[in-house]
Amino acid sequence: MKKILDCIADAIKPAFTDSGYDESFARITLSNRPDLCEYQCNGAMAAAKTYKKKPIDIANDVAERVMNGPHRDMFSQITAVMPGFINIRLGESYVAEFLNAMDKEPKYGMEEIGKDETIIVDYGGANVAKPLHVGHLRSAIIGESVKRLGRFLGYRMIGDVHLGDWGLQMGLIIEELRDRKPDLPYFDETFQGEYPKEPPFTISELEDIYPTASAKSKEDDSFKVRAQEATFQLQNGHRAYRAIWRHIMSVSLADLKKNYGSLGVTFDLWKGESDAQEYIPGLIEDLENKGLAYESQGALVVDIAREGDSKELPPCIIRKSDGAALYATSDLGTILDREKKYSPSKYIYITDKRQELHFIQVFRVAKMAGYVKESTPMVHLMFGTMNGKDGKPFKTREGGVMRLENLVADINDAVYERIMENRTVSDDEARATAGIIGLAALKYGDLSNQASKDYVFDMDRFISFEGNTGPYILYTIVRIKSILAKYKETGGQAGIKGKILGAASEAEKNLMLQITKYHEVIPGSFGETAPHKICQFIYELSDAFNKFYNSTMILKEEDGERQASYIGLIGLTKGVLETCIDLLGFEAPERM
Ligand code: ARG
Repeated sequence: MKKILDCIADAIKPAFTDSGYDESFARITLSNRPDLCEYQCNGAMAAAKTYKKKPIDIANDVAERVMNGPHRDMFSQITAVMPGFINIRLGESYVAEFLNAMDKEPKYGMEEIGKDETIIVDYGGANVAKPLHVGHLRSAIIGESVKRLGRFLGYRMIGDVHLGDWGLQMGLIIEELRDRKPDLPYFDETFQGEYPKEPPFTISELEDIYPTASAKSKEDDSFKVRAQEATFQLQNGHRAYRAIWRHIMSVSLADLKKNYGSLGVTFDLWKGESDAQEYIPGLIEDLENKGLAYESQGALVVDIAREGDSKELPPCIIRKSDGAALYATSDLGTILDREKKYSPSKYIYITDKRQELHFIQVFRVAKMAGYVKESTPMVHLMFGTMNGKDGKPFKTREGGVMRLENLVADINDAVYERIMENRTVSDDEARATAGIIGLAALKYGDLSNQASKDYVFDMDRFISFEGNTGPYILYTIVRIKSILAKYKETGGQAGIKGKILGAASEAEKNLMLQITKYHEVIPGSFGETAPHKICQFIYELSDAFNKFYNSTMILKEEDGERQASYIGLIGLTKGVLETCIDLLGFEAPERM
């Protein structure tokens, strides 16, 4: 469906051309003076320069032609005002018809702009065998939303978790396991048989092994050297270590899937750094052959600095002097894999902004070497830090790193208590509802901020049912659900969704105009990889609904047709809100 701003522009274009001005001047924006009008066209000001006329004369010409032209019924007001603005209000019935059309269309008339285009979204980025902590939370939440948004718009979105599964943590675990269970066959150099199918640890043991080993390596240098050696052996195909690695992978993957699942986050690909390794020898050879990679102080590097860079950018290190695999090299190998299997037309990576330099380096090398077409956008969506109320990175009360599952549990408990304050539901239902609201509070609290900014995790604010919060949006949806249910109960015209009539009040018109922004906001927020724009939209839409609700007796309305129209309108409001929260990655409960 055409966006409402474009519909208005199209209706005004002939007035420009008939008066002898180019139609490109018929650009419409939302009014920045809502007290005066709903939309405005500033084209006369721009046209005045081109045609050397007074802006107000052009504006008058155009306004008059529209009012006497074939589209006059679309408008309730078109006025030229000094120095040359055209102020516009839409006619009540035009807006109603626009909404009725929207209501009939799949996805409320959202244009599928993404046909045939494949986009890789690299998000999540958990490190295997290390607990998921709040640092991984933002990547998961933002990435899931970006993926859903693109998919909704018809893109073929491929979400890849890109696990950190090939680093030093593996060597640390292997050596700690050796210290704990030296009798395992993996540590018997003479062992020739098949290694056990059963993992040598449970997830809770594994969760203990890594932090212990990591702490040990900081105090005990010889342990650290052993871990580095084991990592190197693993990377070079050591049979026993590979077997342990596979156990680490299977045990942690099950746990990761569960954790991500509880956040409503799913991936199409569960690949990791290890999957890139087969590409690396060829990659290095190719970069050398192309004259891009050269030896520098024993390492192999590629210069990526360019004229015009605002700061000095160090070369990308492809191979260290000790031959160890590197983060950037893995990412380049991964790109080769993705190009071969999916030839994506765009890449979106979602990580902490501390990885900015890494991605500048990787993107430049990928393009210089011709692995990715110059025209293929490679986007690094960088996010800021989630801070505690003290303004420092969020920690547990004891000052440790907060584990994701504990954070989720805390927020659910807080919501549960709030629900139980005015208890009307069973305990089980309250628990289930608290889970749904808690997730919304957490995700909305994060997504409603511009991703690049740091934000403060403020539990009390996030779970509040008032203000710009997830629970407030859910509350609005639940309120609509309850009106619709009561309408059905009272018989009326049960189940029949009314045709929406022209607005009967200013609050109703405002609600209607809010809804029409939907076609603009969704693709806009995807194009800018900015889910916070959807949050802003649904917050304003919820506000507009609640103002309408407070000023309108929906269920007591005596005119049956008018009442059915209200029902149609609030049903559409609910549908749009539900569509949007699904794109943000959460849902509404039945009651709250
Ligand atoms: N595992 C990394 C980390 O925890 C994030 C991975 C991001 N994705 C990528 N392709 N490098 O920092």
